[in-house]
Amino acid sequence: MNHTIVFATNNKHKIEEVQLLLGDRFNLISLSSLGHMEDIPENQTTLEGNALEKARFISHAYKVECFADDTGLEIDALHGEPGVYSARYAGPDKDSMANMRKVLEKLKGVRNRKARFRTVIALVWKGSEYLFEGTVEGSLIESPRGTMGFGYDPIFIPDGCQETFAEMKLSDKNLISHRARATQKLVAFLLSTR
Ligand code: IMP
Repeated sequence: MNHTIVFATNNKHKIEEVQLLLGDRFNLISLSSLGHMEDIPENQTTLEGNALEKARFISHAYKVECFADDTGLEIDALHGEPGVYSARYAGPDKDSMANMRKVLEKLKGVRNRKARFRTVIALVWKGSEYLFEGTVEGSLIESPRGTMGFGYDPIFIPDGCQETFAEMKLSDKNLISHRARATQKLVAFLLSTR
């Protein structure tokens, strides 16, 4: 029998990515399918703290098994910035283009372009809490390339690749992405508990 589990997000890119990885073993429910339209609190200073805060909030409010994720782009030359502040790096309206412009501005003339995406997934499952982490190492180019994906994808080239995440098919990004790696750990855990 399939398990139903809530992914505490309304980002359709993420739902699509994670549903592909889960296959038909779990029915993934988004926040809008649950009827929750408001933002969830995200007041912590770490990815782990924010992911847990979101998963606990929805699990408690709707009495459901739930997981939530939080992702940051960590740039070595900027001492890990924007990190947990990735969504609102250039201001409160979560503008991806403005966020990328700010990163590129700060990296002008900087030779060390190393960065990673890091995802933390927090799961509230049968009364206990679990954390899963996934990272992908890469480097940042000087101007955006590609139209797929979202967020900082057009300026990030994963190590060992020639294309940015925004130039790759979703199925290729899913083989190596930070969220895919964290999700694979989540899926392995969920399958082991059945
Ligand atoms: P969130 O907290 O997981 O929504 O992610 C925070 C920020 O990181 C958002 O501004 C996203 O645009 C960015 N982000 C998250 N995942 C990705 C990704 O897979 N590629 C590019 N940017 C991402």
